Amino acid sequence: MSLPPTAEAPSEPEFAIDVRGLHKRFGDKHVVNDVSLQVRRGEIFGFLGPNGSGKTTSIRMMCGLLTPDAGSGACLGFDIVKEANQIKRNVGYMTQKFSYWDDLTIRENLDFVARVYGMPNRKAAVDQALENLGLASRAKQLTGSLSGGWKQRLALAACMLHAPRLLLLDEPTAGVDPTARRDFWEQLHALAAQGISVLVSTHYMDEAERCHKLAYIAYGKLLAQGTAAEVIAQQGLTTWAIHGDNLFALSQQLRAMPGVDQTVAFGNAMHVSGTDAAQLESTVQAAATRHGLKLEPVETSLEDAFIYMMKRSQDNFAEQL
Ligand SMILES: Nc1ncnc2c1ncn2[C@@H]1O[C@H](COP(=O)(O)OP(=O)(O)OP(=O)(O)O)[C@@H](O)[C@H]1O
Ligand SMILES: [Mg+2]
Repeated sequence: MSLPPTAEAPSEPEFAIDVRGLHKRFGDKHVVNDVSLQVRRGEIFGFLGPNGSGKTTSIRMMCGLLTPDAGSGACLGFDIVKEANQIKRNVGYMTQKFSYWDDLTIRENLDFVARVYGMPNRKAAVDQALENLGLASRAKQLTGSLSGGWKQRLALAACMLHAPRLLLLDEPTAGVDPTARRDFWEQLHALAAQGISVLVSTHYMDEAERCHKLAYIAYGKLLAQGTAAEVIAQQGLTTWAIHGDNLFALSQQLRAMPGVDQTVAFGNAMHVSGTDAAQLESTVQAAATRHGLKLEPVETSLEDAFIYMMKRSQDNFAEQL
């Protein structure tokens, strides 16, 4: 009896990305500071953090485009310093500002990318890419006339052309509407189900929630890593929701009160969070009673946790100055 072929090569490493202690300085700025990160095969890993926190710089080091000042690791089993060329050939990298020629058709743009990769079977690869991503009917359309969502599809098709086992996507959906972003994420999950690993940077909270794992970076330092539930739990926050109108003034008062670490507005509700659960409860109970507002305990959301991490890192950074 013959066994069915396995979908993945047996030699494929368990981790698509496994890097330790990465550092990068630009002048006197320590832009990436001791970043260690592991992405399992077939995992969608979200990379979050405020502007300028070091996401793009980290991604460039992981795919061999930038040499780290210190640190080591492997990407698809290749050494990030010594085998950078192998990595570049084997990963699909969608840069933060993906560029294509507006006055070429979708097919022509893909064909150009296939030439850059020196692919022997260009036409077949381009046909397959158009088919896989539902672009076949638009192959002859000029790229410049595409909507933002279709441009993202093209960008994904281009970085998938050489059948990479790892995708590094740097803010792939910035400025794209919610429907197109949802479609894009459906495609990412379909690729992950085929064993393709994805590292994706994003500022969107709904996208963070769609990742298998997450890392949060601020001022070059990784502050949390794990599943969404683990990242939330690591902050040790308790959260209450207060419902009502005109909560802004109350939020300002609460921020100065014992047990309150942060308040976040969510429409007609406000999340109040703190690490001292007992102190927080007595403060919010008293405030709700005083103002006749509805109060309920809620799960701390990923957004609450990210805002908390960002605020703490800003405070820590300010202390160092
Ligand atoms: N080639 C470079 N030379 C000097 N400074 C740089 C260079 N590349 C990045 N930086 C600086 O390093 C810091 C981190 O930049 P990086 O692009 O990695 O952040 P990011 O997290 O990707 O931000 P964003 O969310 O805005 O894309 C920033 O302060 C940036 O100005
Ligand atoms: Mg960036």
